[in-house]
Amino acid sequence: MKLGVIGTGSMGRNHVRIYSELKEVEEVYAFDVDKANKKKSEEYDIIVCDTMGELLARVDAVSICVPTKYHLEVAKRAIENGVHCLIEKPITLTVEEAEELVNLLDTSGLIAGVGHIERFNPIIEEIKRIIKNPLYVEIRRHNPASTRITDSSIVEDLMIHDIDIVFNVFYKPLQGLLVSPSWACGGTGGARDGAEPHSGDYELYSAGNNDLCTALLKFKSSIVSLSASRKASKKIRSVYVEEEEFTIEGDFMNQEIYVYRKPGKYGIENERYTQENIIEKVLVNKVEPLKEELKAFIKCVKNNDDFIITPLQALNNLRICEDIRRLNGIL
Ligand SMILES: NC(=O)c1ccc[n+]([C@@H]2O[C@H](COP(=O)([O-])OP(=O)(O)OC[C@H]3O[C@@H](n4cnc5c(N)ncnc54)[C@H](O)[C@@H]3O)[C@@H](O)[C@H]2O)c1
Repeated sequence: MKLGVIGTGSMGRNHVRIYSELKEVEEVYAFDVDKANKKKSEEYDIIVCDTMGELLARVDAVSICVPTKYHLEVAKRAIENGVHCLIEKPITLTVEEAEELVNLLDTSGLIAGVGHIERFNPIIEEIKRIIKNPLYVEIRRHNPASTRITDSSIVEDLMIHDIDIVFNVFYKPLQGLLVSPSWACGGTGGARDGAEPHSGDYELYSAGNNDLCTALLKFKSSIVSLSASRKASKKIRSVYVEEEEFTIEGDFMNQEIYVYRKPGKYGIENERYTQENIIEKVLVNKVEPLKEELKAFIKCVKNNDDFIITPLQALNNLRICEDIRRLNGIL
């Protein structure tokens, strides 16, 4: 299979590196409008194209890693050329653009997916296996500002990863947890007039700005707290789940999970109170999530299967992002 990467900046170069390592990939093609970035991808054993047209004429499938504001334009070119596409997250800059793209992809017959990479973080699959009835979920994604110029707010830049996990993994099989339609919104923006919730019924509260944001989602019997920041001096990527019988702590970066069980025994020993706590370390098969994502994409193209993160899911993720930004007056 011949794979292409359009946009070989910081993310695209990782796609180039991984495709060039995979045995299923016969040839890797890359294109970037920026000469310096084009040059950097030449260090891999790949074919660097002079135009996007040249690349699209030669590949079966492509990773679209250009800045988000160009996703729609580049994806349209791929569709016109009958090339399967994996689009970096977020799917597009706006919900309207994503709706247009989902419609185009639906009728194209092509395999298309969106790079919500944390789905391929092995801790997510493990936690999903353990949870039954979460009472409280807290996901934090904080880091210092990047030197990279980003065209997204903190919500589409970072929080969208966790929106994707909450709505498409943790709460997907638990539809019974959702409350009946209501739309009680807090945050600085206040309630939306006459608008319907999109991805299920929940209450959404939020406070934040372009660089720092918290969102609180209230489901029928569960509360989810998300926070994301590019103002932190410490990098944090953590997930915390409380259930009646146990608590889970996970770290996206070191791919570790601990499960804490309720104290089994209280007692007095030599006039000191003792308490027996059980902490289990879950065995996680550590992997590079992007490598798993790209391998899954190639497999879907080969077998004509749907990619696990569908453009429609990515559109719904973006809708929730817009709702959060609307509440904060940063739409
Ligand atoms: N999945 C993740 O965790 C993750 C992480 C970072 C970035 N991203 C996403 O990846 C995309 C790229 O982000 P980045 O950080 O690599 O940006 P970047 O600015 O480092 O790289 C973008 C590259 O695209 C090139 N480019 C721009 N327009 C082009 C065009 N029309 N044709 C070809 N090349 C073009 C630029 O010259 C640049 O080299 C964004 O959508 C971003 O949201 C995803």
